[in-house]
Amino acid sequence: MATLETSFLGIKFENPFLLASAPPTALVESIDKAFELGWGGAVLKTITPDNLEMLEASPRYAVMKEKNKVIGFQNIELLSHKTVKYWCDGIRYLKEKHPKKVIIASIMAPVEKEEWQDLVKTLNETPIDAFELNFSCPHGMPEKNIGMAIGTSAEISILITSWVKAVAKKPVFVKLTPNVTNIAWISNAVERAGADGFAAINTVQGFMGVDLDTLEPNLCIDGCTTYGGCSGEIVKPIGLRCVAQIRQSSQLPILGIGGISKWQDAAQYIAVGSDAVQVCTEVMLNGYGIIGNLKKGLLEYLESKNMDSISDLKNRVISKISAHEDLNKNYCMKPVVDNEKCISCEKCTRICAESEHHALSLEDGKIELDEGKCQGCSLCSIVCPQSAITMNSK
Ligand SMILES: Cc1cc2nc3c(=O)[nH]c(=O)nc-3n(C[C@H](O)[C@H](O)[C@H](O)COP(=O)(O)O)c2cc1C
Repeated sequence: MATLETSFLGIKFENPFLLASAPPTALVESIDKAFELGWGGAVLKTITPDNLEMLEASPRYAVMKEKNKVIGFQNIELLSHKTVKYWCDGIRYLKEKHPKKVIIASIMAPVEKEEWQDLVKTLNETPIDAFELNFSCPHGMPEKNIGMAIGTSAEISILITSWVKAVAKKPVFVKLTPNVTNIAWISNAVERAGADGFAAINTVQGFMGVDLDTLEPNLCIDGCTTYGGCSGEIVKPIGLRCVAQIRQSSQLPILGIGGISKWQDAAQYIAVGSDAVQVCTEVMLNGYGIIGNLKKGLLEYLESKNMDSISDLKNRVISKISAHEDLNKNYCMKPVVDNEKCISCEKCTRICAESEHHALSLEDGKIELDEGKCQGCSLCSIVCPQSAITMNSK
């Protein structure tokens, strides 16, 4: 029998699914409900010093849809509006009621040693399990030198990590932003400053679109917009890439985040190096109850692969990621067409011709391949609506 039990920074988790710091963890009673439903832990909505002024805008969300299904958010929400005392009391209440659940305090403050250390010292007196340093919110609030303004600067990230490490009585990990050239530059820097691990990714800075009737931005606040943070399914490739890049340069634990909507996404994050995962947008869209299918699917997958636990899955793909120059250029795949399935739509011949190669043609109702011209790029098999083309290695 496989198990979903795991650990991160020496903390035991009933299962690897945590709620990410976001609206689903903005209230103690909501976290209480999520724990009842089976989540392994929660990262609290980012706590800031009580004197930090935060004014929210309305509306706060734009969406990207596919066939009427939301596949991505762009949000401009700020941090927790609850006081530090609210969270201290809430953490004590939740821990007493759910002693086996993991509770992580996400924190953020202006770049002042005292502000960071006072917040940590206050939270040290509660039964939290770890600190997540939010160096990564793209809109909250870089103009005040916090959020992503920290996580895009190795120097400031090092400074704050060392301030926090100097006083924290619990493990400290850093939530990193994908909005940098190479996330490993920042993860390496905070590791040198004493960070115990990482979480990645926070939202990806974006601009969702323009209403072409009104010529207003899709997220429009009284005629104006600002760049927001994108999340949900649309950011998964960026999240996976970031986690893999961190893993390739560090052995420290990682919580993978970004576009996890089903167990398969979580399994992929673990395969590229995550120790556990966090979920936000999918919970907002479909509720805390999604945890049932996440746990069931991942457990069944481990069993189907004869894996005892997620540590058997962790890092399995990392050694398969290399620089382009190290890829085997003698390896070439060629398309094999099942003409029984082909409906002569010519999507494959068009994309092949218009993307340079002219290797496919339709002759007497059959797709013919000119092997000499084919470079094995695979576009033909990707566009075939009938799955009539498979790629085989030569
Ligand atoms: C509305 C909203 C508010 C968020 N607030 C926070 C926050 O306060 N602190 C934080 O670290 N991340 C915050 N996030 C980022 C999420 O924790 C998460 O990193 C991101 O959404 C990617 O995960 P997902 O694709 O599962 O949503 C927020 C995300 C959303 C959508």
